[in-house]
Amino acid sequence: MSDATNIDGKASAANLRAEISRKVALVKEKHGLTPGLSVILVGEDPASEVYVRNKGKATVEAGMNSNTYTMAENATHDEVMAKVEELNADPAVHGILVQLPLPEQVNEDAIINAIHPAKDVDGFHTLNVGRLNSGQDAMVPCTPVGCMVMLKEVVGDLTGKRAIVVGRSNIVGKPMAALLLKEHCTVTIAHSRTQDLAAECRRADIVIAAVGRPRMVKGNWIKPGATVIDVGINRIEDTSTKSGSRLVGDVDFNEAVKVAGAITPVPGGVGPMTIACLLKNTLTAACRQVQVPEPD
Ligand code: GUN
Repeated sequence: MSDATNIDGKASAANLRAEISRKVALVKEKHGLTPGLSVILVGEDPASEVYVRNKGKATVEAGMNSNTYTMAENATHDEVMAKVEELNADPAVHGILVQLPLPEQVNEDAIINAIHPAKDVDGFHTLNVGRLNSGQDAMVPCTPVGCMVMLKEVVGDLTGKRAIVVGRSNIVGKPMAALLLKEHCTVTIAHSRTQDLAAECRRADIVIAAVGRPRMVKGNWIKPGATVIDVGINRIEDTSTKSGSRLVGDVDFNEAVKVAGAITPVPGGVGPMTIACLLKNTLTAACRQVQVPEPD
């Protein structure tokens, strides 16, 4: 059997970002609206710093306003809360993103739920979670939306497909399952305590790997011809590279590519789509807040 089709997240993200840039230019011209995204980063986690820098850069490239607020690792809960409240009250800020994880002295749930739901471009606020799960219009988390865009590009109609989501996080696993269900898939949510995970995966037409464990999903867990979306970004030691490390996903790519019908690479798969979807959510949030139609 020939190797799986590579799902090119970079190319899909470039298309989506070009479309968003075009729409941002339109709302500026027609309505004098410049969407604005503010990001709060607390502490100095190197991975978070990279993500936040990339988000800010992409926001500016799309023609939107970007502000990043960096707070010290020892910032208090009240200080972070005060920043969220300040941004809630600022009409030039249409999207607020608090980069996770937060230091332990900051109550993550309370901070997320303090963000105005209309500005919650991450879709993590309890109200948006509830709206998504009850089939109402919601801000939907960026990574799962990005996965769905790529899935639909390769699979088309998802009705009746067996899908497995490996991982049950609030950021990816749970909202991913909700979106697959909305598209009429038969959905299994698996996790670290699932019995015979390999057998569960082998039944699936669609595998979404979001466990955060390097190369955990093996080639012989994949049903021949299945579509595999790898959300994992894990840095592993590799002395053959200049830096001494490299990024791998949650799927053993070299094995799975021999069995799957289509698969996302790491890097260059889900990652670029997540940022593109954040821009999309920011544009949507801005149009809703100032009550102008989002351009087609
Ligand atoms: N940390 C890891 N992924 C995310 C994300 O999508 N949003 C936020 N806010 N923090 C994250």
